[in-house]
Amino acid sequence: MLHRVQRQVYLFLTATLIAIFLTSLYLIRSNRRLFAQLATLSEQRSELAQKLIATQESTLRHVSRELHDEFGQILTAVGAMLTRAGKHAPEGSPLRAELREVCEITQGTLDKVRSLSQALHPVMLEETGLESTLDWYLPVVERQAGIHVSYEKSGAPFPVDGNAAIHVYRVVQEALNNLTRHSGASEAWVRLRFLPELLEIEIEDHGRGFDATSARQGIGLVAMRERAELLGGSVEFLKTAQSASGTLVRLRVPREKIDSHAG
Ligand SMILES: Nc1ncnc2c1ncn2[C@@H]1O[C@H](COP(=O)(O)OP(=O)(O)O)[C@@H](O)[C@H]1O
Ligand SMILES: [Mg+2]
Repeated sequence: MLHRVQRQVYLFLTATLIAIFLTSLYLIRSNRRLFAQLATLSEQRSELAQKLIATQESTLRHVSRELHDEFGQILTAVGAMLTRAGKHAPEGSPLRAELREVCEITQGTLDKVRSLSQALHPVMLEETGLESTLDWYLPVVERQAGIHVSYEKSGAPFPVDGNAAIHVYRVVQEALNNLTRHSGASEAWVRLRFLPELLEIEIEDHGRGFDATSARQGIGLVAMRERAELLGGSVEFLKTAQSASGTLVRLRVPREKIDSHAG
């Protein structure tokens, strides 16, 4: 009698152990499958983001060049024709005054087209690199967005050009866009640091701030992360230490990636 009970208990225990073992095995396998799927998905997402970035960059470059070359040439020609026509009109006549006015409008439009072309894709980035492009760009942001930008540079400058310059510039551009659109702040701090092994750039505001882990992720934040990754670097969205709220965007790119024109 006792033996039978004992045997049944053993049987029951063995069956339970086997069941636990099989369930664990199944769980481990399905977990592994899930992780593999997640990895593929994340890879595909990253690939998609990179394609998006490349397409956006080539579109912007194309539109910028087209604006500068085609429209620039047309407007320059119209301006020259108007100047010539003005000379034929009698001195002091209303026609001459009007032609001069149209000429001024044409010149104004030409300047706007040129600066739009620059903003879409600064030729400067390719010609003179990141540092001088930022020297030009930050005052433009001040003027157009109406915020005060304090700009600080430190360290021994090294050249940043090629794709690295484009990616860094776009990250700064998006950070400043977000700052003007979302932070509610009217002041910004931009710090460019040339460190021995690293290029570091910070964009800071003391506005309303946000939580990058829980905030709605727009394409802007995703693209910033993806560009940083393309450069083998990192981008962080931190709370500012100096004020209760506010945002500090910090981009770090290793020097070797910049020198090898990565991305
Ligand atoms: N400097 C900032 N201050 C406050 N909120 C910000 C800031 N930068 C980003 N955000 C928040 O993060 C969100 C996502 O930004 P982003 O991905 O660039 O998308 P979008 O700019 O198109 O809304 C924004 O909608 C905003 O709520
Ligand atoms: Mg944005």
